Amino acid sequence: MNINSMVYAQSYLDSSVSVDERVEDLLSRMTLEEKVGQMTQLNITMVNHEGVQRDVSLDPEKARYLLQNHHIGSFLNGEAVPPEQWLEYINELQSIAVEETRLGIPIIYGIDHMHGASYLEGSTIFPHNINLGATFNIEHARQTGKITALESGPLGHFWNFAPVLDLAKNPYWPRFYETFGEDPHLLSEMGRSYVKGFQGDHDLFPYKLAATGKHFIGYSVPRSGWDRTPVDLSMQTIHEFHRPPFQAAIDAGMKTIMVNSGEVNGIPAHASKELLTGLLRDKMGFEGVIVTDWADIGKLYNFHKTARDYDEATLQAIEAGIDMSMTPTSLRFNESLLNLVENGSVTEERLDESVRRILKLKFELGLFEHPYPSGQGIDEIGSNDRKDIALKAAQESMVLLKNSENILPLSKSIEKLLVVGPSAESKRNLAGGWTLAWQGAAEENYPESMKTITEALRNELPNAEIISMESIGKKYSKTRREFNEVAESADAIIIAAGEEPYTEFVGNITDLSLPEDQLEMIRAVNGTGKPSVLVLVAGRPRVINEVVPDTDSIIWAGLPGFEGAEAIAHVISGKINPSGKLPFSYPQFVGHFIPYNHKPSAAYYFDDTVANDIVVDVEATQMWEFGFGLSYTRFNYENLELSSTELKENDRITAKISVTNAGDIVGTESVLWFLTDEVGRISRPVKELVHFERVTLEPGETAELTFTIEPEIHLSYPGFDGESILEEGYFTIQVGEKKSRFYLEK
Ligand code: GLC
Repeated sequence: MNINSMVYAQSYLDSSVSVDERVEDLLSRMTLEEKVGQMTQLNITMVNHEGVQRDVSLDPEKARYLLQNHHIGSFLNGEAVPPEQWLEYINELQSIAVEETRLGIPIIYGIDHMHGASYLEGSTIFPHNINLGATFNIEHARQTGKITALESGPLGHFWNFAPVLDLAKNPYWPRFYETFGEDPHLLSEMGRSYVKGFQGDHDLFPYKLAATGKHFIGYSVPRSGWDRTPVDLSMQTIHEFHRPPFQAAIDAGMKTIMVNSGEVNGIPAHASKELLTGLLRDKMGFEGVIVTDWADIGKLYNFHKTARDYDEATLQAIEAGIDMSMTPTSLRFNESLLNLVENGSVTEERLDESVRRILKLKFELGLFEHPYPSGQGIDEIGSNDRKDIALKAAQESMVLLKNSENILPLSKSIEKLLVVGPSAESKRNLAGGWTLAWQGAAEENYPESMKTITEALRNELPNAEIISMESIGKKYSKTRREFNEVAESADAIIIAAGEEPYTEFVGNITDLSLPEDQLEMIRAVNGTGKPSVLVLVAGRPRVINEVVPDTDSIIWAGLPGFEGAEAIAHVISGKINPSGKLPFSYPQFVGHFIPYNHKPSAAYYFDDTVANDIVVDVEATQMWEFGFGLSYTRFNYENLELSSTELKENDRITAKISVTNAGDIVGTESVLWFLTDEVGRISRPVKELVHFERVTLEPGETAELTFTIEPEIHLSYPGFDGESILEEGYFTIQVGEKKSRFYLEK
């Protein structure tokens, strides 16, 4: 007999009943073990045949044992396989959960589709978030979210562990590229847009999908720059810089949050009631599911050493406020939680709080009515239309950092081009980590249709002879001679530099410089006297200051995804006029990096004298500042006007600026508006991004852009307790190089 028919009469399976009633009815039927099972998420390796991530296939006996005896509510992970294989695996797993367990509670499957459906063969792979940030165009975040949903939702991937909402502050951090950049406003707008695109109110499938804001909170600023290492962070900084992106996504309806694996101020986030309950629940109003990161309860005792054993670690995490444990390769959490309830350390009422949230999530996604993958539209996966959308995002993310001799765009008459460097023939470098597999995959696994930079240049410049040399430099001395011969006859040389794929601790480094063999290669190219174009394909800003003066043109390409090579070639050929702007401050020195929104005291010196030639101009310590990006045309900002130069807290004033395309080709400009609060009882950043918009202008065309300043929104700042502070005084609005001052009277 079908398990559901035995209990159908009960309201939890009746979709005409309210979600809350269904939750309460189901909860009332659940045993303690079933509740603990719903709070547990296990890895694919616990239910597949080979016990490795890439094996997306079900061993039904393993699954049956875990679902029937331990009532597991969620599973995660896998690697890129064809959609049909995902469908078979998820269907088999779900049918055991729904058809062969006492209550038939569907599982929810979680996965890291970080920039498109990362773990799906043939999917559309977008630029990573750091590139989306460089576009200052929230539409790309929305499209990334939506197309990720379109390509992963049909497979039963109901839960995506994205977007990353961490703030990129430490360029050493190996997950720098997973963020939208260093500015809270930019991250808030991008994160909100991604959530709306992914979770959307689109009726793509019979069920809804859940996004995940991660990693709450303060994960991205480890003192050492190494992943998951200690962070010291004041609550002031948390409220002011790290909270806004999470708040914006929560306010946009984001359904789940994943916790930061590191410690903040000595308390691991997974054991911090202050962060997970005091801040996230009580202050920020988050009511969804809080899931741990990978094995992070266990790490409380075997890594952070804040707990003497697993039971104590579980108690700390439960008391902090987690709902689900990504255990994920053992039943230790289940065992410990049962022990804790049985010995009275944890009440069943506390479990009910978490189980309610988990059941509510499953009911709201419609999983009880539609537990199985819809399989809809899988023939659209990776369609050309979607590739074009990803290409546009990649194109708009290209940042032209230098073009002093106007080498770019390359002349159409160019006959011979030499392409050198580790990214010249590499597909994997263009997509970075979280692509096909956790750390990226072997080169041969990347799509046939995907181009390398060399191939894309050949397509873009069909009349030119394009010669590629993977790498030259000291350790390739034998190719040095070949290089000199080829370089001699080349009209220009493209240096495709950068990083191999990585993520998390695998990407930890101790020197932010671009690797010496690549610097050597750049010196060799510049030594030829030929026009040189450096293309940086990397997940973080590697320091290149010593080669900048002699390199004619520099393009920051970031990690532009599967369409990235074309985007790079389009900038080099002039098919597109670059419009990207840095979403982070590009450091000049390996040991000194200052964000654009630094404090006034970021550099101390005597009066205005320069003591012993120490660099005292803070902006000068950056190679390029947040918001920097060149175009093949130029834009003039004129006539910044304010509707008033004074206002009271309930007034508004409107700022107006004229932007003109003063060049001779069409161009797009991201217009960034900054505000400076000149004096603050808690010191204020020297400037803060408060608004951005893009405008496309024909040669000679002028656009008038406005921005309305609302004191409570734009002139206030959070205090130590997160409450809003609005102080009387002078403020300055800046757009382009134009500034205008006004006074807020309280
Ligand atoms: C990893 C990452 C997290 C990811 C999770 C599941 O350790 O920190 O971002 O979502 O585990 O793969």
